[in-house]
Amino acid sequence: MVAGETPAKRPLPEVQPDLADPPEREEVAQVVPPAEKRLGGAPASGRGTRAQALEIIFASATELDEGFRTSALGTPRYGKTYHLQEVAEEALTRGLVEVVFIHDTKRADVQYRGAVRRNVADLVARPLRPNEPPIVVFHPDPATAEKCTVEEIAALGLRHGRNGGSVLVLADELYKGLKGRQTWEGRSFAEALREGSSIRVSSAFTTQVPQSLPTEALDLTETTAVFMLQGRSLSYAIDTFRLPPEAADVIKNLQRGEFILVTNVGDWDGVIYGPK
Ligand SMILES: Nc1ncnc2c1ncn2[C@@H]1O[C@H](COP(=O)(O)OP(=O)(O)O)[C@@H](O)[C@H]1O
Ligand SMILES: [Mg+2]
Repeated sequence: MVAGETPAKRPLPEVQPDLADPPEREEVAQVVPPAEKRLGGAPASGRGTRAQALEIIFASATELDEGFRTSALGTPRYGKTYHLQEVAEEALTRGLVEVVFIHDTKRADVQYRGAVRRNVADLVARPLRPNEPPIVVFHPDPATAEKCTVEEIAALGLRHGRNGGSVLVLADELYKGLKGRQTWEGRSFAEALREGSSIRVSSAFTTQVPQSLPTEALDLTETTAVFMLQGRSLSYAIDTFRLPPEAADVIKNLQRGEFILVTNVGDWDGVIYGPK
């Protein structure tokens, strides 16, 4: 879909933030479609379009009618937020999710397009109006001391999923959800990563310093768009994703809007995706 367009309106089930959690669901065995299906027609190496990347990102969720898990990693200003905005809008368009909750507190200004609320309490007080897109951008007024945590948004997403809804929880700069190096502030975002897909709770996050995240964040993510990286973050990414040494040169030289896509199955396809 064209950037700037808002997704088609569809009726939203009511968000019920205060219902008690139901009993634990059984872990659903991960069924991973074969690599050739996941590549969505992308070339074996060379250049790919953003549309081809989205096919890969949504492949297993589409096939299994489950949630997806994706992330974007890279140096500031190279296109992580732009990428995840499109992931969010496209997930709505495809009906993979019916609502998106975005934690967007990195800057004083709002980064994502959607209906802005200060935090979950504000959304409860001011539910989405029919003329607003089903993308809630949580962004507290920087002039006040009001808080909005990744934990409360992920917890809201999980409750929504357990009540039968489908949702994407997107944390822009996931370090905001940590209380320290590799330590979650709360349990809900990790729970969404671990258990979300079977209840159609999708997750997405961005990070510029992958080595400071709990390792499970990248381990549980199905697809990661790696934008330009250098130094320790680059070495960490090469190591973590077991990329071949030649990937380092490719990643270092990526331009704004370009990324490689790593998946938790199969080998790197050698393709540079984007900027279009
Ligand atoms: N593929 C793209 N095509 C066009 N503009 C892009 C693309 N990717 C990023 N940009 C623009 O580049 C700037 C930085 O991108 P942004 O997504 O904010 O980076 P990051 O989140 O990594 O800091 C923004 O103005 C964004 O609109
Ligand atoms: Mg950003």
